[in-house]
Amino acid sequence: MNDALEKAGELAGRHIVLGLSGGAACFKAAELCRALTKAGATVQVVMTEAAERFMTAVTMQALSGRPVYTSQWDQRPDNGMAHINLSREADAILVAPASADFIAQLAQGRAAELLALLCLARPLERVPLLIAPSMNREMWAHPATQRNLWQIDQDGAHVLGVAHGDQACGEFGDGRMLEAQELLEELIAFLTPKALAGQRLLITAGPTFEAIDPVRGITNLSSGKMGFSIARAAREAGAEVTLVAGPVHLPTPRGVTRIDVRSAEEMRLASVQQAESANIFVATAAVADWRPAVTAEHKIKKDGSGEVPHMAFVENPDILSEIAHSPRAQSGELFCVGFAAESQDLLANAQAKRARKGVPLLVGNIGPATFGRDDNALLLVDDEGASELPRASKRHLAQQLVAEIARRVSGLSA
Ligand code: CTP
Repeated sequence: MNDALEKAGELAGRHIVLGLSGGAACFKAAELCRALTKAGATVQVVMTEAAERFMTAVTMQALSGRPVYTSQWDQRPDNGMAHINLSREADAILVAPASADFIAQLAQGRAAELLALLCLARPLERVPLLIAPSMNREMWAHPATQRNLWQIDQDGAHVLGVAHGDQACGEFGDGRMLEAQELLEELIAFLTPKALAGQRLLITAGPTFEAIDPVRGITNLSSGKMGFSIARAAREAGAEVTLVAGPVHLPTPRGVTRIDVRSAEEMRLASVQQAESANIFVATAAVADWRPAVTAEHKIKKDGSGEVPHMAFVENPDILSEIAHSPRAQSGELFCVGFAAESQDLLANAQAKRARKGVPLLVGNIGPATFGRDDNALLLVDDEGASELPRASKRHLAQQLVAEIARRVSGLSA
């Protein structure tokens, strides 16, 4: 993705048919429609008769900027075949909400209404169908619904998950439709080429916190944003991702397994364990280099004498170096990527760090210019030399870096 495309939005050039069947979650479809157009997609809304009971077509027209289709007998298309035209033009069809009844219609290949008809008429190999179920928990758990979901999955639909929580009917459980932002992320992930399919990627992110006593500690300004962005981009590219996160306030990217840790020791333990089954290890965490030699059991108090406590430190384990020197990494089974946060002489420091850590790829950045920010610039150093990824959003850089990693990993297994 180039910069112009980044500004235009992640779905620029994509045409999405957004289908609404009947359900209280239709209000989320309105928000989703906005999110899709904001991400650069053109959106054609198609509604069932039941959906129109929950949301007016006028609202969806205003949000999508296009007249809404509700009937297969619509007179507007010259050829009178809305179902053919709509399904041929789409890069993807996303039905949100997909009611239990609508899913049953799909499972049976029914075509009584325009939305089911165009799903049936879509070219299977070219136009993916994504289904965002939405229903009461009992309807969701019913064997008939589960059987229908299994059937439409077999027939090539991509069924998205449901959320657990309060339901419009007042009950509590599984079956809520995902939120608009989650659906947008699922769609982007679905449309991303699977350059890391079959790979298991482990990543560390954020700072560590080294306790001085129960209420104090040493940490740093790392926000974890770069690592979390890489975790998301890697999952979108098809990898199975485990994220070992220091203390940060960031939401877990969808589909990523997260292990929260606090100290460098905890991060080391989790990472070394997980690295045994990973193919790729990316160390973005800003691990504290030292920790207090002893952690006081109780809060250290001032005694009024004016004397300050003297603290001794010990060095923390170097997680990246340890994993990069493990037999699996040395044999090429585990591809390791390090980061370097420097304050000056980026190229020389990054090259020296790459050699010291023993990693094939080291990514350099200037610490004060990245910590806490949403953008960054990266310098990639490998045995062929150095190349730059110019300043861009961490999201965009993460996508580029994932592509760089995928290229190198596929080169290894080729
Ligand atoms: N790293 C690690 N464990 C440590 C220290 C660093 O895994 N105890 C990893 C970081 O996640 C990063 C790389 O090593 O991928 C380099 O981290 P950085 O803080 O830049 O380097 P240091 O090894 O700490 O060296 P220095 O502080 O001297 O620059």
